[in-house]
Amino acid sequence: MSMIAPSILSADFGRLAEEVRAVESAGADWLHLDVMDGHFVPNLTIGPGVVRAVRQTTRLTLDTHLMIEEPARFIPAFAQAGSDFISVHQEIGASLPALIRQIREHSVRPAVAINPDTPLETVADILPSIDMLLIMTVHPGFAAQAFIESVLDKIAQAAHWKRERGLSFLVEVDGGIKVDNAARVAAAGAEVLVSGSGVFGTKNYRETIAAMRRAADQAAPTA
Ligand code: DX5
Ligand code: ZN
Repeated sequence: MSMIAPSILSADFGRLAEEVRAVESAGADWLHLDVMDGHFVPNLTIGPGVVRAVRQTTRLTLDTHLMIEEPARFIPAFAQAGSDFISVHQEIGASLPALIRQIREHSVRPAVAINPDTPLETVADILPSIDMLLIMTVHPGFAAQAFIESVLDKIAQAAHWKRERGLSFLVEVDGGIKVDNAARVAAAGAEVLVSGSGVFGTKNYRETIAAMRRAADQAAPTA
């Protein structure tokens, strides 16, 4: 079963609790929370306070995506705020094993994110120790950008390595995911589909999430 994770970056922040409840009752599996620091990416978004407020509003799995330069300073706060997963970026150049250990010490599931231009080889050694690989399908920083088709090969390669090496990390895709490309990413091996504008930019969240999940499930390779 594919999982759909609406990104609140495209929600109406003035009615955030309502929006969170709306996607939860519309059948979302997870919620994706985009944290940007204005340094690693040229945009600023939310901090642990908003994650905590979301935690108090929903029982959905909270998937916190840290697009920040110094995650080690903030992992404790995002863990205490109620994150279930925390993703850190390969490109920040910090020691990934240390960050992964730190995340696990806080009883949160660790994930590593890679940008569209970052080769999969850069995370090859870390795959056995993470719970999820977040493959960016846009350059991080903003919602509503166009899906980068060339990343499909990397998704397929990650899924192939996962099978070949008998690993258990989830393959997540993030950026430009809509109902009409859900089948393509799922066919390549994506299991968790993040979608911001692809969900919150539509009128009927329930229909959108159901259509996205149906498309992904039909296309997903059978194990
Ligand atoms: C991009 C963020 C994404 C973004 C996705 O930097 O990491 O999670 O919110 O938004 P859409 O689905 O609109 O591309
Ligand atoms: Zn994200």
